[in-house]
Amino acid sequence: MSVLIRGGTVVNADQSIRADVSCVDGQIVEVGPDLEAPSGAEVVDADGQYVMPGGIDPHTHMQLPFMGTVASEDFYTGTAAGLAGGTTCIIDFVIPNPQQPLIEAFQQWREWSEKAVSDYAFHVAVTWWDETVHADMGTLVHEHGVNSFKHFMAYKGAIMADDEILVNSFTRAWELGAIPTVHAENGELVWQLQRKLMGMGITGPEGHPQSRPPEVEGEAANRAIRIAQALKTPIYIVHVSCKDSLESIIRARNEGQRVFGEVLTGHLLIDDSVYLDPDFEVAAAHVMSPPFRPKDHQEALWRGLQSGSLQTTATDHCCFYAEQKAMGKDDFTKIPNGTGGVENRMEVLWNSGVRTGRLTMNEFVRATSTSAAQIFNMYPRKGLVAPGSDADLVVWDPESSKTISAKTHHQNVDYNIFEGMTVTGTPSHTISQGNLVYKQGELQVERGAGRYLHRPPFAPYFDAITKMRAATPPVSVNR
Ligand code: URP
Ligand code: ZN
Ligand code: ZN
Repeated sequence: MSVLIRGGTVVNADQSIRADVSCVDGQIVEVGPDLEAPSGAEVVDADGQYVMPGGIDPHTHMQLPFMGTVASEDFYTGTAAGLAGGTTCIIDFVIPNPQQPLIEAFQQWREWSEKAVSDYAFHVAVTWWDETVHADMGTLVHEHGVNSFKHFMAYKGAIMADDEILVNSFTRAWELGAIPTVHAENGELVWQLQRKLMGMGITGPEGHPQSRPPEVEGEAANRAIRIAQALKTPIYIVHVSCKDSLESIIRARNEGQRVFGEVLTGHLLIDDSVYLDPDFEVAAAHVMSPPFRPKDHQEALWRGLQSGSLQTTATDHCCFYAEQKAMGKDDFTKIPNGTGGVENRMEVLWNSGVRTGRLTMNEFVRATSTSAAQIFNMYPRKGLVAPGSDADLVVWDPESSKTISAKTHHQNVDYNIFEGMTVTGTPSHTISQGNLVYKQGELQVERGAGRYLHRPPFAPYFDAITKMRAATPPVSVNR
């Protein structure tokens, strides 16, 4: 299919220009003024609109088996919902059970993801350690295009990685030129605080944030960053939700350490009062980890994004229906953790970021697409509107408004954490692999059209680190 986007303003992370964009066979072939339509091309009138790289959500969990149930959104519905919101690529997580071979889990996720309608990649979690994990990490990098490994410092008794696993895995990632990522919460503290709160009779969702205060996140983020520093590896902290972990990132970056931080749209906009809602369904729908925080943390996160201390925005899209959340009716520790948002990330960030003047349009593109493409080594194939890049694009109508609701969203879940929020600035068209897949409210997707993306190690972004590594090899550690 060929598409010509005519009359818009192309917005990249570095500049904005008035230009048409011509796409043939899945790629952008030309960006410039007054382009001829390729033969048979569908022409999109983008007058008064912005043409931007499709969003990349670097943190989703489609159909994740988790806490005794399975996330309701699968790779088909989830990637389709993403396209409706201008997100053309996700990076999901393969999460092996402890003792499960990493390659086996990876193959399982690859099977599940075959129905995806947009392009996707995988981070792979390291949830346990032995020599086979060490070997499988190599196979994943060299043969399967995985260049990022995830570590959950929380979820004790399930997928938690202790310091021994972190040190072994970060060291291996260093050898392979892959980047470690962490969910930073001190799992032991969470576990002990949960027991204490339950013992005090606090069994409802209000116990969730009480068992995971900001210090729990700050301690873990700082520990992971210091471990990375000792091992001379870059590190990426997922879902930074509070001042405590942000401060550790800022300190480390000021000291020259290569630390990246991700913020969720939910954490930027929703505060912890949601856990006091008398309706269990509403409070439980917001149970995710790390939890929503008091308002002053949100302001700090915005400043982190504005200043570049946080580089990416994500959703941690991990949906559970009310009946699934009800598993924790009498015990908040059993409420499946997770919320949604893959469809709403870009419009919510535009509305609250660009329209308020917190972010320029170019910074918006950087935060929703380009930075993730660069950090996870998909750039310039993704994250850029330029000849040779994939034709993954969103045509953005800055004047169009809508009110977000679970009644109208495409996400396969009965709740929307942004319910009732009116946003101005929404996608009018989404183009994925050169195909017009979303047009003025109508989705036209093909099951299985999404491609798995191989991401090579050693992003050019890490040249400085590579040089530093050559000069000073890491301290040796036992595996
Ligand atoms: O509550 C969350 N975030 N659920 C998904 C798993 C994770 O911790 O990212
Ligand atoms: Zn997490
Ligand atoms: Zn997550």
